[in-house]
Amino acid sequence: MNQPKKVYLVGTGSGDPDLLTVKALRLIQNADVIIYDRLVSEAILKLIPAGVSLIYVGKISGNHSLPQDEINPLLVKLAESQRTIVRLKGGDPFIFGRGSEEALFLAQHGIKFEIVPGITAASACTTYAGIPLTHRGLAQSVQIITGHTQANQPLELDWNTLADKNKTLVVYMGLANIDFICRKIMVAGLDSDTPAAAIQDGTTARQQRVMSTLSCLATDTKNAMLQPPVIFVIGKVVSLAESLDWFVTEDLSSRCFSRTGKISHG
Ligand SMILES: C[S@@+](CC[C@H](N)C(=O)[O-])C[C@H]1O[C@@H](n2cnc3c(N)ncnc32)[C@H](O)[C@@H]1O
Repeated sequence: MNQPKKVYLVGTGSGDPDLLTVKALRLIQNADVIIYDRLVSEAILKLIPAGVSLIYVGKISGNHSLPQDEINPLLVKLAESQRTIVRLKGGDPFIFGRGSEEALFLAQHGIKFEIVPGITAASACTTYAGIPLTHRGLAQSVQIITGHTQANQPLELDWNTLADKNKTLVVYMGLANIDFICRKIMVAGLDSDTPAAAIQDGTTARQQRVMSTLSCLATDTKNAMLQPPVIFVIGKVVSLAESLDWFVTEDLSSRCFSRTGKISHG
């Protein structure tokens, strides 16, 4: 019997295809089947050569188009079909990406795999928003947290640890709970004037950045009508964003992405 093929779990970064690793691009160009999530950007999907089988398994909050417990056996089945399987994931597979769950399932079923890191939203989106995660004198550490809870479950975080004025806090999947999160952190002692920002669709032509403070972040996000994906950044480093505002979304539209994966700048 033929051995099953290896499965490649590949992080694609936060949207800008120029942030793909060389390895990710090479695997995309050599795949037989590509399974992808909602967070894999259109610009990255355009790099997939014609003829590759595409399977969408993306999740929309509360509305899983394919549950995780069906994605896992699908990967095994596809690997057994002797084709080269590339599983694309937004950002980094191992940061709130369930890449480890898929890899564990593959391991349990004797399927070999490789994992390709991608630039996670905390790094890519903040950089494109002009916010350094650390800066001498402003932040000595970084903490990333999820603001998402399973239905009807309370969000239980160590609020005292989060309320650290020398730390940068990045909140993933926090749109629904950002008001609660900010209030809890203020009660735990972080100054209500602490600079804060929301970033929607970071690194893409649709990127939006809302500058705020801890006490106003929820209201300002609501007023700006931000839609997922959004990350929140809380900490003194956000005060540098106006001075470091380098990203011009129009620059992306002057780039041309061909289906063969070659990228040209025009
Ligand atoms: C399921 S998590 C996946 C994270 C991904 N594995 C990573 O490393 O970036 C989805 C969350 O990541 C954040 N996110 C991912 N891409 C983003 C983007 N381009 N702009 C803003 N937030 C993003 C949002 O908080 C979103 O709700």
